[in-house]
Amino acid sequence: MHAPEFAAVVDDAVAAGANGVPVTELRALRKTYFKPDGSVMVEALRGVDLVIRRGEYVAIMGASGSGKSTLMNVLGCLDRPTQGEYLLDGRSINAMDDETLSRYRGRTIGFIFQAFNLIPEETVLENVGVPLFYQGVSRRERVERATQMLGLVGLGDRLDHRPRELSGGQQQRVAIARALVTRPIVLLADEPTGNLDSTTGQAVLAMFDDLNAKGITIIIVTHDPGVAERCRRVVRMKDGVVEYDRTTRGAGLATHAAEASA
Ligand SMILES: Nc1ncnc2c1ncn2[C@@H]1O[C@H](COP(=O)(O)OP(=O)(O)OP(=O)(O)O)[C@@H](O)[C@H]1O
Ligand SMILES: [Mg+2]
Repeated sequence: MHAPEFAAVVDDAVAAGANGVPVTELRALRKTYFKPDGSVMVEALRGVDLVIRRGEYVAIMGASGSGKSTLMNVLGCLDRPTQGEYLLDGRSINAMDDETLSRYRGRTIGFIFQAFNLIPEETVLENVGVPLFYQGVSRRERVERATQMLGLVGLGDRLDHRPRELSGGQQQRVAIARALVTRPIVLLADEPTGNLDSTTGQAVLAMFDDLNAKGITIIIVTHDPGVAERCRRVVRMKDGVVEYDRTTRGAGLATHAAEASA
């Protein structure tokens, strides 16, 4: 896979740089899963405070069952918190009805699932156009933008394939194209390289590096210390709370130092 040129997919707002408002801000956030009889099954998040600013590149780590996917699903507005507040790009999602939230989410967030979640009956091109369909984008523009995105991830010659006619790495790239086609300001990825061989995984990570360099905020769940190493900030979850939150190196250090002295 060649290094793609992502400038074309970056929203003007992102290119304009930080507006000071955190991309995501969680305040005392809790997520409890209940049994059908209403009793508590699992307290998956037990009070999470987390501020992530524009342009950050954050790894979420932690043992299996520590709450990483639950956290990502809340950040991605696929699931609502049980308690606490979530501000997405400065707006509280708590009071939004489902339709408003799903529109707002669609404009703001790109989500990459570990299991790709592509629609098997639809072509690669149609899969990537789906989020645009939900935004009411015309068919012509959907085809144009999906084609462009698929070209950027190196799949310009696979537009009419069905997902099952692709390799795992190619399916993951379709999922990436689908997450980026809406020009989100934040990209959430739950173990995006978990199912890939190391070369393909490296290529996917190189794409993330490139996107982050263009200003897109990236939050990635990983078990791989090598992946976390690329990120400037590591948030480690333990039993539904943040065990530690560390800025490791690079530009992130400067940002945090500036905040500390502000
Ligand atoms: N839909 C659900 N209903 C009930 N309990 C759930 C549900 N989803 C997750 N859990 C529980 O919540 C806890 C956190 O799960 P979560 O999927 O967030 O963990 P994780 O950190 O992503 O783990 P892994 O690294 O294995 O993916 C676990 O104890 C899990 O069993
Ligand atoms: Mg998980």
